[in-house]
Amino acid sequence: MNEPLPEGGVIRKMWAVEASRYREHLLRLDPASRRNRFGGNVSDEFLANYAALTPSLDTVIHGFFVNGTMRGAAELRPIGSAIAREAEAAFSIEQPWQSHGVGSALLARTLLAARNRGITFLHMACLADNERMQQLARKFDAELRFDFGSIVGEVAAPHPTPLSVTREIVADSHGFATALLDVQSRLLRPA
Ligand SMILES: CC(C)(COP(=O)(O)OP(=O)(O)OC[C@H]1O[C@@H](n2cnc3c(N)ncnc32)[C@H](O)[C@@H]1OP(=O)(O)O)[C@@H](O)C(=O)NCCC(=O)NCCS
Repeated sequence: MNEPLPEGGVIRKMWAVEASRYREHLLRLDPASRRNRFGGNVSDEFLANYAALTPSLDTVIHGFFVNGTMRGAAELRPIGSAIAREAEAAFSIEQPWQSHGVGSALLARTLLAARNRGITFLHMACLADNERMQQLARKFDAELRFDFGSIVGEVAAPHPTPLSVTREIVADSHGFATALLDVQSRLLRPA
């Protein structure tokens, strides 16, 4: 599923050194989005600690960047033993960028990464009243089976194929070039 992103937006994997960008993104979430993302009200301090810790937890984070600023993120975190092949996925998009296809694009990239890691069950903790997240999951019901308690999805094609691995590498190589440009433009910015 390839939907156009809002103008100027790119999706790429986040680098571990970019934890501060993740923290700033999470702190910009409006109260309702913050509650939906974390299943309740959480403090700024909690978010700062969470953002600092997450990149060290074997988590794949795809970011949605606009002009170098992270405006959305998708986490894929393996849980339990490796044999269990389970992971948790979570999404956060800042309010002005919601309902513009960013969640769909991030979920597509997250499913590709899950598939290439042999993950067969994807848990999506989701509040019962979060209709948009449930609509989003339904769009992928060919690839994902889920029930709505907290949405638990099963990645339908768990085995990586040469094509799916290539797709992830190609996506990452574009992301790498974009990340370098972001860093370069920040270095060149007048003080
Ligand atoms: C939930 C969230 C990830 C969805 O991402 P998004 O970019 O807003 O969603 P998309 O634009 O890709 O839309 C996905 C589907 O949701 C539905 N949708 C979009 N806007 C909607 C709205 N305002 N109300 C209800 N459903 C809506 C549509 O079915 C849409 O698919 P379509 O455009 O093909 O019809 C995002 O809104 C978000 O981060 N919300 C706050 C945090 C959160 O709820 N996280 C999820 C818990 S892990």
